[in-house]
Amino acid sequence: MMDRDRRLKDLLATCQLETQAIRTGSERTAEREHSDPLFLTSSFVFPDAQTMADAFINDNGLSIYARVDNPTVDTFCRRLAALEGAEACEATASGMGAILATLMAHCAAGDRVVMSTGVFGATLTLLKKFFVKYGIELELVPTTDLDAWRAALSKPTKLAYCETPSNPTIEVVDLAAVSDLCRAQGTLFVVDNCFMTPVLQKPLALGADLVIHSATKHLDGQGRVLGGAVLGSKALIEPVTAFIRSAGVTMSAFNAWVFLKGLETLELRMKAHSEKALQLAQWLQSQPAVSKVNYAGLPTHPQAELIARQSTGGGGVLSFTLKKATKEAAWAFLDGTCLMSLTANLGDVRTTVCHPATTTHGRLDQPDRDLMGVSDHLIRIAVGLEAVEDLIADCQRGFTALG
Ligand SMILES: Cc1ncc(COP(=O)(O)O)c(C=O)c1O
Repeated sequence: MMDRDRRLKDLLATCQLETQAIRTGSERTAEREHSDPLFLTSSFVFPDAQTMADAFINDNGLSIYARVDNPTVDTFCRRLAALEGAEACEATASGMGAILATLMAHCAAGDRVVMSTGVFGATLTLLKKFFVKYGIELELVPTTDLDAWRAALSKPTKLAYCETPSNPTIEVVDLAAVSDLCRAQGTLFVVDNCFMTPVLQKPLALGADLVIHSATKHLDGQGRVLGGAVLGSKALIEPVTAFIRSAGVTMSAFNAWVFLKGLETLELRMKAHSEKALQLAQWLQSQPAVSKVNYAGLPTHPQAELIARQSTGGGGVLSFTLKKATKEAAWAFLDGTCLMSLTANLGDVRTTVCHPATTTHGRLDQPDRDLMGVSDHLIRIAVGLEAVEDLIADCQRGFTALG
């Protein structure tokens, strides 16, 4: 490492988030490259048998095999860890891979998990259909109800899990309050920070133990590749790493390289998503066909005071309900639009629109959808970076199609 790079490494720890998002974690090779290199190789070679044995048995820091480690993935982990203020980070093949690895690493048969109702559909399915089958007890609590969290956590609980703001109803968990409840009971508190990213919200600083990301969303930011991450203390990440290495839900080097490019612009994008989403949310509030708008940046959000305390922006995702409370009306709106992409991904520069009840949450039973507030007339928009005027015109086309 050049002396200049060594000095930069120390300096970066004191720099602002946007500087860290561009430069932290890079370890220049002997080629003196400027941009982060991509190590597209499934294994690594050794100069002799002794060094190879040391790598396998004594973990001498040399890369072995891409399911176990890869320098491009390691750079992504170091950079995201700096942004989240975490001691350690492990990367996974997808966001669901990160959730799976966290639960596999930290829960065993007989343990109890408490989870908020407002989570991504596949997260609830993973717990309800699989972990419960293997002897994990699951209790769901209404996302915003602190008394319900308190009551649920009064029983011995291994792990508490939430997503905030929730997908797609944009309900918010009081992270500091639930962290206090978890700490008092010795419960691990895991937060999916995918909607806000560390630019707008830092769950570890508010007392959470582990942070989960679907890197597929804002960390990429341009809808290209799948990935996930788990962040926290070294002691809590070590078992996650052990699971990922054995199970093979590893992030690919190519995807890590794409995420590194995404992180470089994360701060700019999150601020722009927040500004544009707020403008669109305010316009939607004035529309006669709309009964309710859910957006974390709105001053009228029922938890606006809490949101201002724990986040520095509303993020890019909003949802709204139509006065015509039917699936047909929601589909007519969707089919009337044409600029926004009809797709379930979010966190892209391209605005996406979807009907959660028949897509992201479509495989859940009706009672679960009711519990989560995913009604037939709810529409989710993940606001991208197009001109707000053009997005408004597209929504207008959707409302016209409603008749
Ligand atoms: C909040 C949230 N967490 C986790 C996931 C799962 O991530 P992935 O699709 O990368 O597996 C999603 C996917 O939409 C999500 O919205």
